[in-house]
Amino acid sequence: MKEEIAVGIVGTKFMGRAHSNAYIDVAHFFDLPVSPVMRVACGRNVPDLEAFARQFGWESTETSWERLVARDDVDLVDICTSNVTHMPIAVAAAKAGKHVFCEKPIAMNADEARQMLDAACEAGVRHMVAFNYRRVPAIMLAKGLIDAGKIGAVRHFNAVYYQDWLVDPDYEFNWRHDVKEGGSGAHGDMNAHTVDLARYLVGEIEAVSGAQEIFIRERPLAGGAGVGAVTADDATGFLARFRDGALGSFMATRFATGRKNFLRLEVFGSEGGLVFNLERLNELKFYSRADADQERGYRTIMVTESSHPFISAWWPPGHIIGWEHTFIHEVRDLLLAIDAGEAVYPDFFDGLRCQQVLDAAVASSVAGRWVAVPAEA
Ligand SMILES: NC(=O)c1ccc[n+]([C@@H]2O[C@H](COP(=O)([O-])OP(=O)(O)OC[C@H]3O[C@@H](n4cnc5c(N)ncnc54)[C@H](O)[C@@H]3O)[C@@H](O)[C@H]2O)c1
Repeated sequence: MKEEIAVGIVGTKFMGRAHSNAYIDVAHFFDLPVSPVMRVACGRNVPDLEAFARQFGWESTETSWERLVARDDVDLVDICTSNVTHMPIAVAAAKAGKHVFCEKPIAMNADEARQMLDAACEAGVRHMVAFNYRRVPAIMLAKGLIDAGKIGAVRHFNAVYYQDWLVDPDYEFNWRHDVKEGGSGAHGDMNAHTVDLARYLVGEIEAVSGAQEIFIRERPLAGGAGVGAVTADDATGFLARFRDGALGSFMATRFATGRKNFLRLEVFGSEGGLVFNLERLNELKFYSRADADQERGYRTIMVTESSHPFISAWWPPGHIIGWEHTFIHEVRDLLLAIDAGEAVYPDFFDGLRCQQVLDAAVASSVAGRWVAVPAEA
């Protein structure tokens, strides 16, 4: 019998479903030394919670995360709730000796993120932030090419993350519009991903200059009960200076009319360039100055060979994978790390460093000037 790792998940909606799917699939496709057990799911709405537990096969339910965290039969707490709850759940879970897997952004601000990192380190538990795009095979290939010097010294890292679901003024108010529950809006939701990818691919950011906007300041409340005041940004953009000399630009907006989940990265180096778009997740575009002059041009690499990261567990070449696979990949690595007693990345340190960049961009947009990112965590 393999050793079991019992999971308790908090949050039953979008990410609750994505993570549940990962626990179900991971052991079917990867030969793991441990078995994840879907022990308990926690939510606030009992009928929704029971339906979720039935649909995904969670063994039991709780309506209080405090009770879930205190249970002796839980080894790993998976946090899939709105951002304001991340810190209290993660700190309590770590203090109770549980490993912690937390959705991004890690927290409401860097102070909270630091409390989470400290609690996890003091408890000696494994900790991971669900920056799932680090486990897109094409992104991992990009990292390998950059580290191998294939594009030379990086000069530019440009990221746009475009969605358009808020273009409709009748879109109902929810926690993502409330700075008290989300910490920020598009910024913490979408720039969190691209800042993490920037750190992963290029390195630390040392200063930022940003601007934020709320385009529609009131939205209808669910059920027609009046309007809610929007306090979280609809869009945030910022320029960045990397420690190693590269320049960066970031734009996250929910007002990119016609764009659904368009995350595009462009990395330009002294010897070549890379372009990735999440809506073409299996592809990476690569330009190399090492190619003969007349043959130069961006080539599209189909990242579905068994030699590409994670792909040998899936399908033959060209049989593409999807967005949900990124969660399966991160859960696989988390379970392996728990079994081995080793660190897994991105961890709460990465969550904190990302948060420091996000916080600096907000401070910059308020102050109207460049703001330094703390040199150390
Ligand atoms: N990695 C990604 O690509 C990605 C994508 C979307 C969201 N997220 C992140 O995942 C987290 C959740 O987002 P979502 O889209 O699933 O939100 P959601 O609104 O779909 O679901 C949030 C869930 O949290 C529950 N919840 C909130 N407070 C709770 C509490 N005190 N106790 C128990 N349950 C509570 C809600 O009832 C709901 O089930 C956020 O941090 C978000 O930024 C990550």
